Amino acid sequence: MPLLLGVNIDHIATLRQARYARCPQAPNAEPSPLVAALDALAGGADSLTIHVRGDRRHMQDADALRIRAEVPLPLNFEMGVTAEMLAFALLLQPEFACLVPETREEITTEGGLDVAGNFALTHNAVTQLQDAGIRVSLFIDPDLPQVEAAARSGARMVELHTGAFANAADEDRELEITRLAAAARAAHAAGLQVNAGHGINYSNITQLWAVPYLAELNIGHSIVARALRCGLTQAVRDMRQLMATYPTAAR
Ligand code: PXP
Repeated sequence: MPLLLGVNIDHIATLRQARYARCPQAPNAEPSPLVAALDALAGGADSLTIHVRGDRRHMQDADALRIRAEVPLPLNFEMGVTAEMLAFALLLQPEFACLVPETREEITTEGGLDVAGNFALTHNAVTQLQDAGIRVSLFIDPDLPQVEAAARSGARMVELHTGAFANAADEDRELEITRLAAAARAAHAAGLQVNAGHGINYSNITQLWAVPYLAELNIGHSIVARALRCGLTQAVRDMRQLMATYPTAAR
């Protein structure tokens, strides 16, 4: 299986909200997340990731519903574990849901979900979503107790948080790769699909090739940043090309 690319387009909505927070669906409100989704499709994205946060700071409910209706790509819906978002996910019916921790103060999703510490709540959300035909992924730090709890929750996938790897100083990077590789091996052995995301860019991505069993990477910020220079379609194409170098032996 090739390594799949999920393109996170939240930042397109972030830019629109900076100017049009009061009227995000007005005809002149730009840039459009829907157009971005279509550009990502043209560049070879395998899926789209969008996160409707409780505070609606970037993607709005209407964006998610429109993208779902109009873009022929699998949708990965990132969501906090709240009754409000569960209800919305059941209405939206994405192919995948990725459960993430959410706090109002953070700039982006900063740590992984504490599945072990919030087991009943997580297990309940996983069950409701998967009973509705939505495959669930849990966004966790690459720690073995979290992998073990994710497997017990019934979720089909984990997304390993690569933020600590991406932010590590050169001398600490190897340690973070070792953590990710150990978590990937444990998740694979437990029958979970292994995804990864956060802070992955065009230069650090190949260092992740030491992590086995990767099925999908979810990447947003670096692709949107490159899109300012070459357009989103080309930025996605470039990332896809790099991802084709993931070693066959690691898959
Ligand atoms: N995966 C998850 C669960 C995230 O919360 C984010 C950030 O929204 C990403 C992947 C993408 O991270 P980045 O924008 O740093 O590529």
